[in-house]
Amino acid sequence: MKALILTPVAVAISAALAGPVFAADPAKIDWGKVPSRTVTLFYPGQSTYQWLRGSGHPGAQVVNTGGACLTCHKGAEQKLGDKLVKGGPLEPMPVKGKNGTVDLKFQAAYDAKNAYLRFQWKTLNPYPGTEHQYLRFDGKEWKQYGYPKLDDVVQQGKQPGIYEDRFSIMIDDGSVRDDYLERHPSAREWSSFGDFGFYRMEVVDAYYIAGFGEMAWVSADDYRKAKPDPLAAHAEAIIAHMNADHADSLALYCRAFAGVEADSALMEDVDYLGFRVRAQVGDERHDLRISFPRPARTPKEVRAVLVDMSRKARSASDS
Ligand code: HEC
Repeated sequence: MKALILTPVAVAISAALAGPVFAADPAKIDWGKVPSRTVTLFYPGQSTYQWLRGSGHPGAQVVNTGGACLTCHKGAEQKLGDKLVKGGPLEPMPVKGKNGTVDLKFQAAYDAKNAYLRFQWKTLNPYPGTEHQYLRFDGKEWKQYGYPKLDDVVQQGKQPGIYEDRFSIMIDDGSVRDDYLERHPSAREWSSFGDFGFYRMEVVDAYYIAGFGEMAWVSADDYRKAKPDPLAAHAEAIIAHMNADHADSLALYCRAFAGVEADSALMEDVDYLGFRVRAQVGDERHDLRISFPRPARTPKEVRAVLVDMSRKARSASDS
């Protein structure tokens, strides 16, 4: 197996690493044959990214243009980490015994389907950092929740596997950037800045908040199955057309379908189930959502639905 040189485009901080589909069993890879490299990571105290990019940090200019920390700090990792970890303005509450640096051993391998990454580092304890299982309140008492992944209870499916140390990186071939800029051309100018990154979120759960007490949990599975609104690409044109040419109809919809005596109205958003309007009533503004009587998946269908609604509204106001 050959070592792979990876270009991490962005380091993603995700809530959990999604379970990958393995082509090979990573535990059976002969890691002894895979070349390794060791990098020394220094503890930067509690310095924030703002601090690293601000006038308090002599390296700010290089950090701001995407330069690596080691451009300047290489060779001084140990000294810097050991000094920072002991206390000072960047470490107001030092933790006794904490390491100033960590030597991280890094290996990478691949087969036809996957890349396999292995990171190893020494902990202060003579055992891996899996000590902090979670406790969960079951209604009566706090119970242990989660064990190291290789423990029997996890293997038998009785407990979830939990690791204390999590690691997540995003690797791409550059196409993410191109795809993004095609959809958001206005970002082209900023995308060359050093601190412009791409992040991938692994959704674990989503909480939908529609307002007015309407909210619900959405499972990661359902979330992933959801498709973009079929009108997403046309919404802008529909909105512009309605506001320019049919403002009177919009006010009419507000009166007929939302019971709001609008003097004027502007469409703000449209999707295949309905639209949002901002209605003006005297000095007051009302944000309303008006549903279509039937789903409209194309601009043509939207037009037909709106014409029907308009007819209905007029006959209601005439009678
Ligand atoms: C252009 C050079 C340069 C780059 C790039 C750079 N630094 Fe620095 N940094 C310095 C210099 C110079 C100092 C002050 C002298 C020292 O403490 O080594 C400093 C100081 C620091 C300190 C404070 C040390 C102390 O004694 O209080 C921290 C923490 C630090 N850098 C972290 C980083 C991190 C993290 C990065 C990468 C994101 C980074 N630096 C990139 C030049 C740089």
